[in-house]
Amino acid sequence: MQVIIFDDAQQVAVNAAEWVAELITKKKNPVLGLATGSTPISLYQQLVNKYKAGELSFKNTTSFNLDEYLGIDADNEQSYRHFMNQNLFNHVDINIDNTFLPTCNQGENPREQGLAYEEKIKQANGVDLQILGIGANGHIGFNEPTSSLASRTRIKTLTQQTLNDNSRLFNKDEFQPTLAMTMGIATILDARYVLLMATGESKAQAVKDMVAGPLSAMCPASALQMHENAIILLDKAAASKLEDQEYYHWANNQNIKVNEEFGLYHNY
Ligand code: F6R
Repeated sequence: MQVIIFDDAQQVAVNAAEWVAELITKKKNPVLGLATGSTPISLYQQLVNKYKAGELSFKNTTSFNLDEYLGIDADNEQSYRHFMNQNLFNHVDINIDNTFLPTCNQGENPREQGLAYEEKIKQANGVDLQILGIGANGHIGFNEPTSSLASRTRIKTLTQQTLNDNSRLFNKDEFQPTLAMTMGIATILDARYVLLMATGESKAQAVKDMVAGPLSAMCPASALQMHENAIILLDKAAASKLEDQEYYHWANNQNIKVNEEFGLYHNY
């Protein structure tokens, strides 16, 4: 794992945007894995700004989102499709037909839909760079604690903690789904690079468990310890419970030096 600690959330977003921009400008047909939630909104703003400044085109990009609620339509304002349209897709030149979410409409078999999503990712030649947030309980995507580390796209029942955490986004009289379709942990680990963003004090314990805890289904994000190219971008608050912060800063400076000498190399 490469742990990089920034002074604030804005710097996390700026750095994450550089990763995305590098992939999109260098690879002919880039495949992005995307996340929803509060954390990546500032990343998407950065990407929209870069597009508007003429620095970036999403014309040849395909995207796969981590998850989507079950039981609400795509045009529902609470759907993750709506979130992605609002925060990114409507503001850049991505071909909307090349943007995918693991949807499962009423009457469709979620197991078949999950397998079909896996197949679609394979046909696109896999995800190059997967953006992730992290839940306060250590979830990635909607892989809640106890999720199999070998899981694939399927239905998950959200925990009470996740429902409480996300209830801030729903009005009192609004239906809050308790089920979602989500990429599995093995699906996420298949991505060539994973870039996890975590900001704020509420994520500090989950970040500690992910980086320094045991590999455990009780902290699904700890599965990233098994990934060859996992980059963890943190602000100070999210990193506050990590004991080896000095080492992470030092190791990051060494990486910067190697990059300066030999050039940046990402094997997409
Ligand atoms: C969203 C997702 C979730 C969020 C996590 C953190 O697509 O997969 O794992 O990344 O719940 O959400 P925020 O960023 O709202 O704290």
